Amino acid sequence: PDRYAVIGNPVAHSKSPEIHALFALETRQNLEYGRLLAPLDGFVDAVRKFIDEGGKGLNVTVPFKFEAFSLANKLTSRAKMAGAVNTLHFKDGIIYGDNTDGAGLVADLTLNAGFSLSNSRILLLGAGGAAYGVMLPLLQQKPDIVHIANLSVEKADEMAKQFSGFGKTRVSSYDELNEPYDIVINATSAGLSNAMPPVSSPVFEKHTLALDMVYANRPTPFMQFAGQCGARTRDGFGMLVEQAAESFFVWRGVKPQTKPVFSHFGRE
Ligand code: ATR
Repeated sequence: PDRYAVIGNPVAHSKSPEIHALFALETRQNLEYGRLLAPLDGFVDAVRKFIDEGGKGLNVTVPFKFEAFSLANKLTSRAKMAGAVNTLHFKDGIIYGDNTDGAGLVADLTLNAGFSLSNSRILLLGAGGAAYGVMLPLLQQKPDIVHIANLSVEKADEMAKQFSGFGKTRVSSYDELNEPYDIVINATSAGLSNAMPPVSSPVFEKHTLALDMVYANRPTPFMQFAGQCGARTRDGFGMLVEQAAESFFVWRGVKPQTKPVFSHFGRE
């Protein structure tokens, strides 16, 4: 069977092997998908060894997405714009780098949550790696606006500038947010320390969808707050599954169904 894996540090908690095993079963593709723990200073060596052993592709997770970007010989435009790579594909001696995170988010919002992004007003919280990863695919959906709020407004400005050719963006501090949005996406890393970005209630309305890009077994602080403000909430599990399906497609040319994976994990 063709070999694939998720490479990261840590990587033990990753659900990707289980998700891709389900995809392979469903699409009858003959492949195996494992976990690769790389030392923090040993990403490139680990990738080269995997290629030498005949590996066909890797998903890349924390903290190696930027190193994967540098390592790739050929980048898709969505990876270029993201400045990060989550999917490596090895073929004919070439290392191809792609980024399926944004497409995963868009697929989850439109196909799974039934949300139309065209003409919508999007509030994106954060201007770090996670935010960069989803900007281009979001703008390609032709929203009315992507409003970026970040603690460092300078970083948000820089990000908006990079994507200015692809759609309408606006930038502000958290303090200046005072009107409702159709969708509020938490792309900050605040949740990792059980905190939340300092948004206040006016950004949420009954019809607002509040999506946290991270997932957990219980609602994140951001989801709890948005829920208290009356918004619909969603975590990053759907995005995780959909970005995996996109990566599977990049490697195999077949797009797996994601519904069976949701059921497998006891989601909807
Ligand atoms: P990631 O790859 O997860 O995006 P990152 O590139 O380090 O990680 O970016 C972290 C993002 O979360 C940044 O937008 C950061 O805001 P600043 O750029 O202003 O620092 C944001 N962030 C981290 N902790 C936060 C907190 N407690 N509240 C609000 N934003 C936070």
